[in-house]
Amino acid sequence: MNALLRDTVSPSSATPAQRRARIAQAMARDGGGIAIIPTAPERRRNSDNDHPYRYDSHFHHLTGFTEPQAWLVLRSDGHSTLFCRPRDPEHEIWDGFRLGPEAAPAALGVDEAYPVGELDARLPQLLANQPAVWWCFGVHTEVAPLIEAWLAAVRRRSRDGIECPASQRDLNALLDEMRLVKDPGEIELMRRAASISASAHVRAMRFCAERFRAGATSVREYEIEAELLHEFRRHGAQSPAYPSIVAAGPNACVLHYAAADAPLLPGQLCLVDAGCEFDGYASDVTRTFPAAGRFSGPQQALYEIVLAAQNAAVSATAPGRRHHDAHDAATRVLSQGMLDSGLLDRNKVGDLDAVIETAAYRRFFMHGTGHWIGRDVHDVGDYLSAAEAPVARADGLGGTVVKKPSRILQPGMVVTLEPGLYVRPAEDVAEKFWHIGIRIEDDALITPDGCELMSRGAPVEVAEIEALMRAQA
Ligand code: GLY
Ligand code: MN
Ligand code: MN
Repeated sequence: MNALLRDTVSPSSATPAQRRARIAQAMARDGGGIAIIPTAPERRRNSDNDHPYRYDSHFHHLTGFTEPQAWLVLRSDGHSTLFCRPRDPEHEIWDGFRLGPEAAPAALGVDEAYPVGELDARLPQLLANQPAVWWCFGVHTEVAPLIEAWLAAVRRRSRDGIECPASQRDLNALLDEMRLVKDPGEIELMRRAASISASAHVRAMRFCAERFRAGATSVREYEIEAELLHEFRRHGAQSPAYPSIVAAGPNACVLHYAAADAPLLPGQLCLVDAGCEFDGYASDVTRTFPAAGRFSGPQQALYEIVLAAQNAAVSATAPGRRHHDAHDAATRVLSQGMLDSGLLDRNKVGDLDAVIETAAYRRFFMHGTGHWIGRDVHDVGDYLSAAEAPVARADGLGGTVVKKPSRILQPGMVVTLEPGLYVRPAEDVAEKFWHIGIRIEDDALITPDGCELMSRGAPVEVAEIEALMRAQA
């Protein structure tokens, strides 16, 4: 049986009810009040077509509910109210099943549920006499005016002795912290997402190798993208976690290039940055491989630098290390590689320390080495250590900046490790390196004694990639 099939998943996550209880307790410890958490709005694509619907990550974390037009209202004493679409036989013929407020308490464990059309009538009652209203600042722009209107309705009742919440509190901080450290069930889902993505990268490599073996003179980026999507969906992933990057040759030097219709030619590298979303959890994986299965000398030389940089980042990713340590480690290896390969001229930029101090490496490596990943591909969570005092740190431009230190990693956090090198044509760069863009990206779960690369089902070593692409199906 295929190990990736959906029915082998047996997550043991905290339940949404347990998560709601944790958030309610955190609010209670911090003055109490009531939280208002909407799911994501539906978005029009064109004419009368919507974009595929994706629920809000915070909302789903606290409810497990995937329908649009839904709101969770959570009091700090733990009482929960859901607003959702009412049952509607006519609409359900066109758009499918709706849970409806009658079934919601039993299905979702909320204390009560009402039709979403009753929001305006009920929210002022729910807000009355609460010390604070908690909501996620700056997430869904349409929420702020609604909350203002509900607060105004409460204020109008002050003559009746009703008190309006005295403060508005940002709920993001509590939810972000909760989501940053994944529980065993979440980790299982992330492993599943990462392994499906890894198999999609393997499929893309094999597909290119077979096409060129069969005599093709080029393969289009969209054909490779279709292979990725096929692999995601056949293993039950709901969608890509972000628009897939399939970059042929020079396109790899555009960091967020979207798969288009450029031809991939036999001597070029192909950079694929693609990951699926599985049951609400993202993966984010990049591989760079030679189109026809053999790296050229210059391609391999730069590839080995990026791989060494990723290995350095992996070694720096463990409990007790800081999030930024991986970037510092990768940047050192990349910078040394730029000097050794001649990409950077020692006579102009100086030695390794000078390259790092002046950030001369940014000409060829201009992004960070990783980010939190979870329900969102660029997941929530503070990157700085809120509890520690600010420190002076090199700003990478020859100066210093004073800020809180980078966050200390702990088991259950998940980060990407994604160094790269991108070489655009320039007179002072050897022509053999022009247009080479390389990134290697894996998803690293912090474990008690290091990290687990959950996406390593896709090969990274030069010899492994070449062997895979040589092998006939
Ligand atoms: N795929 C987007 C990123 O690597 O951050
Ligand atoms: Mn990526
Ligand atoms: Mn990434």
